[in-house]
Amino acid sequence: MTVAQKGIVYLVGAGPGDPELLTRKAAALLETADVVYHDDLVSEDVLALAAGHALVVSVGKRCGARRVTQAEINQKLVESARRDLAVVRLKSGDPLIFGRAGEEIAALRSAGIPYEVVPGISSAMAAAAAFGASLTSRDAASSVLLVTGHHADKPNAEFPPTRIVYMPGSNLAAIAEQWLAQGVTPDTPCVIVSRVSRPDQAIVRTTVGELRDAKAPESPAILLAGWALQNEKCATLFRSHSDSETEPRTSVSGL
Ligand SMILES: C[S@@+](CC[C@H](N)C(=O)[O-])C[C@H]1O[C@@H](n2cnc3c(N)ncnc32)[C@H](O)[C@@H]1O
Repeated sequence: MTVAQKGIVYLVGAGPGDPELLTRKAAALLETADVVYHDDLVSEDVLALAAGHALVVSVGKRCGARRVTQAEINQKLVESARRDLAVVRLKSGDPLIFGRAGEEIAALRSAGIPYEVVPGISSAMAAAAAFGASLTSRDAASSVLLVTGHHADKPNAEFPPTRIVYMPGSNLAAIAEQWLAQGVTPDTPCVIVSRVSRPDQAIVRTTVGELRDAKAPESPAILLAGWALQNEKCATLFRSHSDSETEPRTSVSGL
């Protein structure tokens, strides 16, 4: 069984609220962490799984009388790991969707703190499940768009989307050409992940401009592209050449 390790920060998806929608890994980490920092939207039923000895701290941006800043949250994560505590950073839904995880990952990387991301069921998928409808349809919808209403009144805060292609197949050149024709810049970071979370998981990093030269991935595979994939400390990972390196399965990659 997974046990939260001292000195590591786990960015964990808490799902939409029902504790039965947590992954087994998320539940195990929650049950063994020394400290849990959680957002406002994490349900009480999920928090109830934290170990009896654990310090459970709300860092919701609206908690208490004073707003907790993102910089303060980053600092708490780094300091707790440095005190050799097993740290769970619990976010509603999936931690990588509108959760400011990029800033926390950047802070952990720059402090040399190892971290692991544990995905959760995003509210988008949970809402569709509650409604009982498919998000894609051969007749009606060939893609899914996830946007925030938070910046609806600030058009200047609009950035290009992260593109995710299921079933990319082997004709990566055709996908790249389509994107380039749509104005995506050739230096946009691209990642192909094969057999995610399985023992033979493989990650290939490239750019949209060099995607045509990437080896066809082992199936099943998924293709991601966009600037959010390159946080400041990952810059060297996206060299201008298609390095086609593979990574071991472990996602403890904070160093
Ligand atoms: C800061 S975003 C976090 C999104 C989250 N990371 C996810 O993957 O669902 C917060 C927004 O997610 C949506 N959300 C989160 N939990 C929800 C729930 N249980 N039911 C409906 N919407 C939810 C709401 O739109 C909420 O304002």
